Amino acid sequence: MSVTDTLGEIKQRAGEELARVDGTAALDALRVRVLGKKGELTALLKGLGSLPAQERPAVGAQINEARAWLTARMDEALARLQAKEREAALIAEAIDVTEPRPVPKTGASHPVTLVMNDLIECFTGMGFEVLQGPEVELDHYNFELMNIPKNHPARDAQDTFYINDNVVLRTHTSPMQARAMLTRKPPIRIVCPGRCYRADEVDATHSPVFHQMEGLVVDEHVTMADLRGTLTAFARHMYGPDVETRFRPSFFPFTEPSAEVDLTCPSCHGKGCRVCKDTGWVEILGSGMVNPKVLEMCGIDSHKYSGFAFGVGLERLAMRRYGIRDMRLLYEGDARLFGQLR
Ligand code: DAH
Repeated sequence: MSVTDTLGEIKQRAGEELARVDGTAALDALRVRVLGKKGELTALLKGLGSLPAQERPAVGAQINEARAWLTARMDEALARLQAKEREAALIAEAIDVTEPRPVPKTGASHPVTLVMNDLIECFTGMGFEVLQGPEVELDHYNFELMNIPKNHPARDAQDTFYINDNVVLRTHTSPMQARAMLTRKPPIRIVCPGRCYRADEVDATHSPVFHQMEGLVVDEHVTMADLRGTLTAFARHMYGPDVETRFRPSFFPFTEPSAEVDLTCPSCHGKGCRVCKDTGWVEILGSGMVNPKVLEMCGIDSHKYSGFAFGVGLERLAMRRYGIRDMRLLYEGDARLFGQLR
Protein backbone atom coordinates (compact mmCIF):
# COMPACT_ATOMS: atom_id res chain seq x y z
CA MET A 1 0.00 0.00 0.00
CA SER A 2 1.35 3.44 -0.93
CA VAL A 3 2.08 6.03 1.72
CA THR A 4 -0.68 8.15 0.23
CA ASP A 5 -3.18 5.34 0.73
CA THR A 6 -2.01 4.68 4.26
CA LEU A 7 -2.29 8.36 5.06
CA GLY A 8 -5.80 8.43 3.65
CA GLU A 9 -6.74 5.45 5.77
CA ILE A 10 -5.24 6.98 8.94
CA LYS A 11 -7.08 10.24 8.33
CA GLN A 12 -10.37 8.53 7.68
CA ARG A 13 -10.16 6.27 10.73
CA ALA A 14 -9.02 9.13 12.95
CA GLY A 15 -11.85 11.30 11.60
CA GLU A 16 -14.43 8.62 12.43
CA GLU A 17 -13.00 8.09 15.88
CA LEU A 18 -12.90 11.82 16.50
CA ALA A 19 -16.62 11.99 15.78
CA ARG A 20 -17.23 9.27 18.39
CA VAL A 21 -14.79 10.34 21.08
CA ASP A 22 -16.76 11.36 24.20
CA GLY A 23 -14.20 12.79 26.61
CA THR A 24 -10.82 14.52 26.82
CA ALA A 25 -9.18 11.37 28.18
CA ALA A 26 -10.24 9.31 25.17
CA LEU A 27 -9.15 12.14 22.87
CA ASP A 28 -5.71 12.17 24.50
CA ALA A 29 -5.36 8.45 23.90
CA LEU A 30 -6.28 8.91 20.26
CA ARG A 31 -3.79 11.78 19.88
CA VAL A 32 -1.00 9.65 21.31
CA ARG A 33 -1.86 6.75 19.07
CA VAL A 34 -1.91 8.79 15.88
CA LEU A 35 0.43 11.74 16.47
CA GLY A 36 2.58 10.57 19.40
CA LYS A 37 6.31 9.76 19.31
CA LYS A 38 5.50 6.10 18.76
CA GLY A 39 2.34 6.92 16.81
CA GLU A 40 1.18 5.98 13.35
CA LEU A 41 2.36 9.17 11.59
CA THR A 42 5.79 9.04 13.22
CA ALA A 43 6.14 5.44 12.02
CA LEU A 44 5.39 6.62 8.47
CA LEU A 45 7.98 9.40 8.76
CA LYS A 46 10.57 6.88 9.91
CA GLY A 47 9.74 4.83 6.81
CA LEU A 48 10.74 7.76 4.54
CA GLY A 49 14.36 6.58 4.55
CA SER A 50 13.42 3.44 2.57
CA LEU A 51 11.92 5.50 -0.29
CA PRO A 52 13.91 6.64 -3.31
CA ALA A 53 15.48 10.06 -2.57
CA GLN A 54 13.46 11.95 -5.21
CA GLU A 55 10.11 10.81 -3.69
CA ARG A 56 10.96 11.75 -0.16
CA PRO A 57 10.17 15.50 -0.24
CA ALA A 58 6.66 15.03 -1.69
CA VAL A 59 5.76 12.17 0.66
CA GLY A 60 7.24 14.07 3.65
CA ALA A 61 5.10 17.04 2.70
CA GLN A 62 2.00 14.81 2.54
CA ILE A 63 2.71 13.42 5.98
CA ASN A 64 3.21 16.88 7.42
CA GLU A 65 0.02 18.08 5.83
CA ALA A 66 -1.84 15.13 7.31
CA ARG A 67 -0.29 15.89 10.72
CA ALA A 68 -1.42 19.54 10.48
CA TRP A 69 -4.92 18.49 9.43
CA LEU A 70 -5.23 15.92 12.22
CA THR A 71 -3.81 18.32 14.81
CA ALA A 72 -6.36 20.97 13.84
CA ARG A 73 -9.26 18.43 14.06
CA MET A 74 -8.05 17.23 17.41
CA ASP A 75 -7.71 20.78 18.75
CA GLU A 76 -11.26 21.50 17.65
CA ALA A 77 -12.47 18.33 19.33
CA LEU A 78 -10.53 19.21 22.47
CA ALA A 79 -12.17 22.65 22.70
CA ARG A 80 -15.61 21.12 22.20
CA LEU A 81 -15.06 18.35 24.77
CA GLN A 82 -13.57 20.73 27.35
CA ALA A 83 -16.58 23.02 27.04
CA LYS A 84 -18.91 20.05 27.45
CA GLU A 85 -17.03 18.77 30.49
CA ARG A 86 -16.98 22.23 32.10
CA GLU A 87 -20.71 22.50 31.57
CA ALA A 88 -21.28 19.09 33.16
CA ALA A 89 -19.07 20.00 36.13
CA LEU A 90 -20.95 23.26 36.67
CA ILE A 91 -24.24 21.41 36.71
CA ALA A 92 -22.90 18.72 39.04
CA GLU A 93 -21.40 21.26 41.46
CA ALA A 94 -24.29 23.71 41.37
CA ILE A 95 -25.52 24.90 44.77
CA ASP A 96 -29.23 25.38 45.23
CA VAL A 97 -29.27 28.57 47.28
CA THR A 98 -33.02 28.23 47.78
CA GLU A 99 -32.77 24.80 49.42
CA PRO A 100 -33.82 25.05 53.09
CA ARG A 101 -30.91 24.23 55.37
CA PRO A 102 -31.30 21.83 58.28
CA VAL A 103 -32.23 23.73 61.43
CA PRO A 104 -29.07 23.87 63.57
CA LYS A 105 -29.35 22.48 67.08
CA THR A 106 -28.72 25.26 69.55
CA GLY A 107 -28.82 25.35 73.32
CA ALA A 108 -31.61 27.08 75.21
CA SER A 109 -31.69 29.07 78.40
CA HIS A 110 -32.97 27.30 81.50
CA PRO A 111 -36.46 28.40 82.58
CA VAL A 112 -35.04 29.65 85.89
CA THR A 113 -32.49 31.73 83.96
CA LEU A 114 -35.23 33.12 81.74
CA VAL A 115 -37.28 34.16 84.76
CA MET A 116 -34.22 35.52 86.58
CA ASN A 117 -33.21 37.64 83.58
CA ASP A 118 -36.73 38.92 83.26
CA LEU A 119 -36.82 39.93 86.94
CA ILE A 120 -33.45 41.62 86.66
CA GLU A 121 -34.70 43.58 83.65
CA CYS A 122 -37.84 44.58 85.54
CA PHE A 123 -36.04 45.70 88.71
CA THR A 124 -33.07 47.39 87.07
CA GLY A 125 -35.69 49.30 85.07
CA MET A 126 -37.02 50.59 88.40
CA GLY A 127 -33.57 51.70 89.53
CA PHE A 128 -32.46 48.61 91.45
CA GLU A 129 -28.90 47.33 91.34
CA VAL A 130 -28.03 43.62 91.06
CA LEU A 131 -25.86 42.29 93.85
CA GLN A 132 -24.51 38.76 94.28
CA GLY A 133 -23.04 37.14 97.34
CA PRO A 134 -21.64 33.90 98.75
CA GLU A 135 -23.58 30.66 98.76
CA VAL A 136 -21.34 29.39 101.58
CA GLU A 137 -22.43 31.86 104.22
CA LEU A 138 -21.70 32.65 107.84
CA ASP A 139 -24.36 31.65 110.31
CA HIS A 140 -24.07 35.25 111.50
CA TYR A 141 -25.47 36.66 108.24
CA ASN A 142 -27.80 33.81 107.35
CA PHE A 143 -29.52 33.70 110.76
CA GLU A 144 -28.21 36.07 113.43
CA LEU A 145 -28.48 39.37 111.54
CA MET A 146 -31.77 38.23 110.05
CA ASN A 147 -33.13 38.07 113.59
CA ILE A 148 -33.62 34.34 113.42
CA PRO A 149 -33.15 33.21 117.03
CA LYS A 150 -30.88 30.39 118.17
CA ASN A 151 -33.75 28.00 118.89
CA HIS A 152 -35.58 28.68 115.61
CA PRO A 153 -36.52 25.47 113.77
CA ALA A 154 -34.99 26.79 110.51
CA ARG A 155 -31.60 26.47 112.18
CA ASP A 156 -32.04 22.77 112.76
CA ALA A 157 -29.55 20.54 110.97
CA GLN A 158 -32.57 18.78 109.51
CA ASP A 159 -33.31 21.91 107.48
CA THR A 160 -29.90 23.52 107.04
CA PHE A 161 -26.67 22.18 105.54
CA TYR A 162 -23.90 23.03 108.02
CA ILE A 163 -20.27 23.26 106.91
CA ASN A 164 -19.27 23.75 110.56
CA ASP A 165 -20.78 25.44 113.62
CA ASN A 166 -20.43 28.90 112.11
CA VAL A 167 -20.75 28.27 108.39
CA VAL A 168 -23.78 27.11 106.42
CA LEU A 169 -24.94 26.81 102.83
CA ARG A 170 -27.24 29.81 102.74
CA THR A 171 -30.86 28.79 103.22
CA HIS A 172 -32.20 31.96 101.59
CA THR A 173 -30.89 35.08 99.84
CA SER A 174 -31.92 37.25 102.81
CA PRO A 175 -28.36 37.44 104.24
CA MET A 176 -27.63 39.68 101.25
CA GLN A 177 -29.79 42.28 103.01
CA ALA A 178 -27.30 42.38 105.88
CA ARG A 179 -24.29 42.37 103.54
CA ALA A 180 -25.74 45.33 101.62
CA MET A 181 -26.70 47.37 104.67
CA LEU A 182 -23.32 46.81 106.33
CA THR A 183 -21.38 48.01 103.29
CA ARG A 184 -23.64 50.70 101.80
CA LYS A 185 -25.37 53.85 102.88
CA PRO A 186 -29.04 54.54 102.11
CA PRO A 187 -30.60 54.97 99.66
CA ILE A 188 -30.20 51.24 98.99
CA ARG A 189 -32.10 49.57 96.17
CA ILE A 190 -30.88 46.09 95.36
CA VAL A 191 -31.99 42.72 94.06
CA CYS A 192 -29.89 39.62 94.78
CA PRO A 193 -30.56 36.50 92.71
CA GLY A 194 -28.83 33.26 93.54
CA ARG A 195 -28.71 29.66 94.65
CA CYS A 196 -29.96 28.55 98.06
CA TYR A 197 -29.77 25.23 99.87
CA ARG A 198 -32.03 23.34 102.25
CA ALA A 199 -31.94 19.78 103.50
CA ASP A 200 -35.12 18.85 101.65
CA GLU A 201 -35.97 15.62 99.91
CA VAL A 202 -36.53 15.97 96.18
CA ASP A 203 -40.20 15.92 95.22
CA ALA A 204 -42.60 17.76 92.89
CA THR A 205 -42.27 21.02 94.85
CA HIS A 206 -38.93 20.70 96.69
CA SER A 207 -35.28 20.51 95.83
CA PRO A 208 -32.22 20.79 98.10
CA VAL A 209 -30.82 23.38 95.67
CA PHE A 210 -33.11 26.13 94.46
CA HIS A 211 -33.05 29.81 93.53
CA GLN A 212 -34.34 32.92 95.16
CA MET A 213 -34.17 36.59 94.48
CA GLU A 214 -34.01 38.96 97.39
CA GLY A 215 -35.07 42.58 97.11
CA LEU A 216 -34.24 45.37 99.52
CA VAL A 217 -35.01 49.07 99.59
CA VAL A 218 -33.79 51.29 102.45
CA ASP A 219 -34.30 55.03 102.44
CA GLU A 220 -36.06 57.81 104.34
CA HIS A 221 -39.86 57.55 104.36
CA VAL A 222 -40.13 54.13 102.73
CA THR A 223 -43.59 52.73 103.42
CA MET A 224 -45.68 49.65 102.82
CA ALA A 225 -47.29 51.54 99.91
CA ASP A 226 -43.89 51.57 98.19
CA LEU A 227 -43.59 47.84 98.76
CA ARG A 228 -47.03 47.24 97.33
CA GLY A 229 -46.48 49.49 94.31
CA THR A 230 -43.13 47.89 93.53
CA LEU A 231 -44.41 44.33 93.82
CA THR A 232 -47.54 45.08 91.79
CA ALA A 233 -45.36 46.55 89.02
CA PHE A 234 -43.22 43.41 89.17
CA ALA A 235 -46.28 41.10 89.02
CA ARG A 236 -47.64 42.99 86.01
CA HIS A 237 -44.28 42.87 84.27
CA MET A 238 -44.25 39.08 84.71
CA TYR A 239 -47.89 38.19 84.11
CA GLY A 240 -49.52 41.09 82.28
CA PRO A 241 -51.19 44.43 83.00
CA ASP A 242 -54.45 42.99 84.36
CA VAL A 243 -52.83 41.20 87.28
CA GLU A 244 -53.84 42.28 90.79
CA THR A 245 -51.89 41.66 93.98
CA ARG A 246 -53.19 40.82 97.42
CA PHE A 247 -51.25 41.18 100.67
CA ARG A 248 -51.94 38.74 103.51
CA PRO A 249 -50.50 39.22 106.99
CA SER A 250 -47.69 36.79 107.70
CA PHE A 251 -44.61 36.43 109.87
CA PHE A 252 -40.89 36.54 109.15
CA PRO A 253 -38.35 37.35 111.86
CA PHE A 254 -36.58 39.91 109.65
CA THR A 255 -39.66 41.92 108.63
CA GLU A 256 -42.32 43.67 110.72
CA PRO A 257 -45.01 43.77 109.60
CA SER A 258 -44.71 40.88 107.16
CA ALA A 259 -46.93 39.97 104.27
CA GLU A 260 -47.41 37.08 101.95
CA VAL A 261 -48.18 38.35 98.46
CA ASP A 262 -50.70 36.67 96.17
CA LEU A 263 -51.53 37.51 92.60
CA THR A 264 -54.56 36.77 90.46
CA CYS A 265 -54.12 33.24 89.19
CA PRO A 266 -52.32 33.40 85.80
CA SER A 267 -54.11 30.21 84.69
CA CYS A 268 -57.73 31.34 85.17
CA HIS A 269 -57.29 35.11 85.62
CA GLY A 270 -58.99 34.97 88.99
CA LYS A 271 -62.03 32.91 88.06
CA GLY A 272 -60.95 29.85 90.02
CA CYS A 273 -59.31 26.70 88.68
CA ARG A 274 -57.26 23.68 89.73
CA VAL A 275 -54.02 25.67 89.86
CA CYS A 276 -55.37 28.15 92.42
CA LYS A 277 -57.59 25.56 94.13
CA ASP A 278 -60.61 27.63 93.13
CA THR A 279 -59.52 30.66 95.13
CA GLY A 280 -58.56 32.83 92.13
CA TRP A 281 -55.25 33.69 93.83
CA VAL A 282 -51.79 32.15 93.91
CA GLU A 283 -49.04 32.93 96.39
CA ILE A 284 -45.82 34.23 94.88
CA LEU A 285 -43.56 35.62 97.57
CA GLY A 286 -42.86 36.76 101.12
CA SER A 287 -42.21 40.37 102.00
CA GLY A 288 -42.46 43.03 104.64
CA MET A 289 -41.03 46.17 106.17
CA VAL A 290 -37.47 45.57 107.33
CA ASN A 291 -37.56 44.88 111.07
CA PRO A 292 -36.05 47.93 112.88
CA LYS A 293 -34.02 45.45 114.90
CA VAL A 294 -32.42 44.21 111.68
CA LEU A 295 -31.75 47.79 110.52
CA GLU A 296 -30.00 48.56 113.84
CA MET A 297 -27.95 45.32 113.84
CA CYS A 298 -26.77 46.27 110.34
CA GLY A 299 -25.75 49.79 111.38
CA ILE A 300 -28.73 51.70 109.95
CA ASP A 301 -30.52 54.32 112.09
CA SER A 302 -34.05 52.97 112.30
CA HIS A 303 -35.43 56.36 113.40
CA LYS A 304 -34.20 58.03 110.26
CA TYR A 305 -34.57 55.18 107.78
CA SER A 306 -37.09 52.50 106.96
CA GLY A 307 -37.10 49.80 104.34
CA PHE A 308 -38.95 47.00 102.68
CA ALA A 309 -37.73 43.58 101.60
CA PHE A 310 -39.02 40.63 99.66
CA GLY A 311 -37.83 37.17 98.74
CA VAL A 312 -39.16 35.24 95.77
CA GLY A 313 -38.57 31.62 94.78
CA LEU A 314 -37.53 31.51 91.12
CA GLU A 315 -38.43 27.85 90.52
CA ARG A 316 -41.94 28.54 91.64
CA LEU A 317 -42.20 31.57 89.34
CA ALA A 318 -40.83 29.60 86.40
CA MET A 319 -43.25 26.72 87.04
CA ARG A 320 -46.18 29.15 87.23
CA ARG A 321 -45.13 30.96 84.12
CA TYR A 322 -44.53 27.91 81.94
CA GLY A 323 -47.17 25.64 83.42
CA ILE A 324 -44.62 23.12 84.70
CA ARG A 325 -46.22 20.96 87.38
CA ASP A 326 -43.23 19.03 88.70
CA MET A 327 -40.06 20.79 89.88
CA ARG A 328 -37.95 17.76 88.98
CA LEU A 329 -38.46 18.61 85.29
CA LEU A 330 -36.43 21.76 85.88
CA TYR A 331 -33.40 19.73 86.88
CA GLU A 332 -33.52 16.92 84.33
CA GLY A 333 -32.23 19.11 81.48
CA ASP A 334 -34.57 17.70 78.83
CA ALA A 335 -33.86 19.77 75.72
CA ARG A 336 -37.34 19.03 74.38
CA LEU A 337 -38.78 21.04 77.26
CA PHE A 338 -36.29 23.88 77.41
CA GLY A 339 -36.21 24.42 73.65
CA GLN A 340 -39.88 25.48 73.71
CA LEU A 341 -39.65 28.23 76.33
CA ARG A 342 -39.00 31.91 75.86
N1 DAH B 1 -36.22 34.53 103.26
C1 DAH B 1 -37.58 34.08 103.11
C2 DAH B 1 -37.58 32.61 102.74
O1 DAH B 1 -36.58 32.08 102.40
C3 DAH B 1 -38.28 34.84 102.03
C4 DAH B 1 -38.52 36.26 102.44
C5 DAH B 1 -39.67 36.60 103.11
C6 DAH B 1 -37.60 37.23 102.17
C7 DAH B 1 -39.93 37.90 103.48
C8 DAH B 1 -37.84 38.55 102.52
C9 DAH B 1 -39.02 38.88 103.18
O2 DAH B 1 -36.99 39.54 102.28
O3 DAH B 1 -39.26 40.16 103.53
O4 DAH B 1 -38.60 31.99 102.79
